[in-house]
Amino acid sequence: MSAAEEGGAQYERVARSGQVEEGWVRRFFAGEVELCVARLDGKAYATTNYCTHLDCLLSSGKLQDDGIRCSCHGSVFDLETGEAIYPPATEPIRTYPVKEENGEIFVAISEEDRAQSGPRRRARRD
Ligand code: FES
Repeated sequence: MSAAEEGGAQYERVARSGQVEEGWVRRFFAGEVELCVARLDGKAYATTNYCTHLDCLLSSGKLQDDGIRCSCHGSVFDLETGEAIYPPATEPIRTYPVKEENGEIFVAISEEDRAQSGPRRRARRD
């Protein structure tokens, strides 16, 4: 199975489970959508790869007990909700539904996600 539809979003295969080891974070793409994929306590998570502070790549960050820490200025985000739980970032990051089947990681990407994505591009509010 390469993709399945759920809630208006398409699940896309982005990686083999073994490519995201416990405690690690890596960058993957679902088409044009750049993702930060992590594994914490056995569970795989997917978020946007861009920090809401100044756009640093979260795939260069580190995991800690309560989430992912951006390597640039130390903001921490909840992997489940995307909430900024440690400053300087105050806005949440986008998180995506993830499922693992048959040793592969699938991430649900909506049409809206696709429309707003692209290299180093994300919605701005200024
Ligand atoms: S860019 Fe991530 S904390 Fe500043």
